Amino acid sequence: MAKFKITPEIATYKTVSQFIQDFPFTSRDLVVASKRLHEKYLKKHLGPATFIDFRTYFEGEPTSAAMEKMQQELSAIGYDRVIGIGGGSILDVSKLLVIDNSISLEYLFLKKIEPVRTKELILVPTTCGTGSEVTNISVLAIESLNTKYALAHDALFANQAVMITELLHDLPYDVFAASSLDALTHAIESFLSPLASPISLTQSRLAIELLLENYVGLTNMGVEKYREKLNDFLMGSLVAGWAFGNSSCGPVHGISYPLGTKYHVPHGESNYTFLIAVLKQYADLDDYTKQSRYDKLKAIVANVLDCQKDEWLETLEQLLLKIIPIKRLHTYDITIEELDEFTESVYNNQKRLLGCGYIEFDRDHILEIYKTVY
Ligand SMILES: [Fe+2]
Repeated sequence: MAKFKITPEIATYKTVSQFIQDFPFTSRDLVVASKRLHEKYLKKHLGPATFIDFRTYFEGEPTSAAMEKMQQELSAIGYDRVIGIGGGSILDVSKLLVIDNSISLEYLFLKKIEPVRTKELILVPTTCGTGSEVTNISVLAIESLNTKYALAHDALFANQAVMITELLHDLPYDVFAASSLDALTHAIESFLSPLASPISLTQSRLAIELLLENYVGLTNMGVEKYREKLNDFLMGSLVAGWAFGNSSCGPVHGISYPLGTKYHVPHGESNYTFLIAVLKQYADLDDYTKQSRYDKLKAIVANVLDCQKDEWLETLEQLLLKIIPIKRLHTYDITIEELDEFTESVYNNQKRLLGCGYIEFDRDHILEIYKTVY
C-alpha cells in the first residue's frame, strides 16, 4: 500500500495584519521569530503574546544543547500555542516546542522514545525553500553525536501553515537563491527516492517543473527581479515539501549535514554544493535502463529546459550557476583531511538518507563526491 498524507490546513494572506485578524494572539501564545521580523511586522500586533527572538538561543542552525536550554527557560512560561515565523530553522525549533519537553532530545532523535504532542502549532514560512511548514520533520544537530539528525513524526505537524506574501518582500537575494535551491533538491531527491509513491512522484514532478520554469523565467528577465517570482517559488517549495515529507530526501541532504554542523553553512547552500555532483554520480552509475526513474527525471528536466535529453545535466548546471555560484569546500576552510571524517560520520549516521538515493551509497561514493567539490 502506498500512502500520501497532506497535512496541515493551509491559509494564504497578503499581509501580516490580515493573518492576525483571523488568528488573534493571546496571552497563551508563544511567538518565535527573528528580532528584525518582530520590529518590522509583529511588534504592533503582538498584544499579550510572548515573543522569543530565535537568535537569543541559536547562533547558527539549531543544536541540541541550545534547544535544551531554550526548552528549560520557556518551561517557566505558560503557553498553549506556538507560532513559528521564519526560515527552516525557526520552523524546526517551533515543532520541538509543542512536544513534551521532559523527553531527552538525543533519545527522541535516535528514535528510542516517541514524541508526545502537548500544544498547538502554527507555522509561517518567510523563505521559499524548506517546505518545513507542511512536513512532520524537524532537523537538529546532536552535538554528542557530531551530526544532524531528522526526526519525522506526526506529532510535529502544524495545525495550520500560513503563507503570507508580505513576509517574503525583504528576503535577500542570497537567501532566496539558497532556499529555492533547497526546494529544488527536495523535489529531485523525492522524485528519485525508493519510498516514492505515484502521488508523491506527481508532486515531485510538479515541483521540479514549477521551480525550473521559474528559474528559466528569472534568468531571462534578470535575477535582480527575483521578488516578482517569490510567490511562485513559495508554491514550488510547498509542493516539494509535500513530496519529500512523504517520500523522503536522499544523499544530497545526508552528505551536506557536516557542513551545517561543523561550519554552519546554511542548509540550502550546502545542499546546492552537492546536488549536481550527486546527480553526476548517478549518471555514471545508472544502468541506463529505459524508463528508469532517473531516465524519467532526465526527460522532465530536458523538456522544461528545452535541451536534448543527454545534455540535461550540463544544461541544468549552467542554469543554476546563473542563479548562484557553487562554493568549493576549501573556501569554507575545510581541510582535505576532514573529508575522511565527514565521510565516516555520514556513512555511520545518515543511513536513512543514504538509503533513499537512486543508488546505494558506500563510503567510496561519499568520499568521491566530497573530493569532486573540494
Ligand atoms: Fe532541505
